[in-house]
Amino acid sequence: MVRISDRIMFMPPDHSLDRPLLGYIKGGSFSVAVDAGSSPSHVGKFYDELEKEGLPLPGLTILTHSHWDHSFGLSAIHGLSIANSITYKHLVDDMRTPPEELFRSYISEDYSFLRKEYPTPDSIDISLPDISFTSHLSIDAGDLVIELSHVDSPHTDDSTLVFIPSDGVLFIGDASSGEIISDKDLESGGRYGKRALESFISALKDIGAETVIHSHAEPVPAGKEISYLEGVLAEL
Ligand SMILES: [Fe+2]
Repeated sequence: MVRISDRIMFMPPDHSLDRPLLGYIKGGSFSVAVDAGSSPSHVGKFYDELEKEGLPLPGLTILTHSHWDHSFGLSAIHGLSIANSITYKHLVDDMRTPPEELFRSYISEDYSFLRKEYPTPDSIDISLPDISFTSHLSIDAGDLVIELSHVDSPHTDDSTLVFIPSDGVLFIGDASSGEIISDKDLESGGRYGKRALESFISALKDIGAETVIHSHAEPVPAGKEISYLEGVLAEL
């Protein structure tokens, strides 16, 4: 586990499997996880790490968005889960899609990582979040408040930002990445829509975090992330 503060930490991403980091926020009443990861095996690894450090298992898991590597571990989590209503809807759609068709719908890189987690399409077990919200939600985990915001982002239409104001830490999921629709998009870092990017930069400024944590990268100062995104915007 990598510690950001006394109460906030994460298990780092595993690029060999394209697994995102899984965040952990230790409240006084209960602990909260950020994302459910790619698979039950990913969740198991996370919980092993928590147990090694004597940390309680999460009572609540927040999904940053519906993409498989952040949500398909949901069936194996401890406690309850929460996501914005659009994430919920996307997962309902995934659940209703025949597994073979779902497998084929992924771009080739995702498909190869997905096959590493799930040898056969029918081994995927999609679960739905227990709770869904629209717009904003505050959670008091016991002497520690967590603010959730559903924002426009260049990555998806269902990005939830997870902000811990007392520590100035903001988990953004993949929200600052572009949209990945084809294999070509991976080489270019994803497609950035101008309006969504402007809106996302504005949301980042309004929140006023100190540290931004992207699910597949190292934590960075918020100012650096905003400058980078303004540079991307200037090129559009
Ligand atoms: Fe994503």
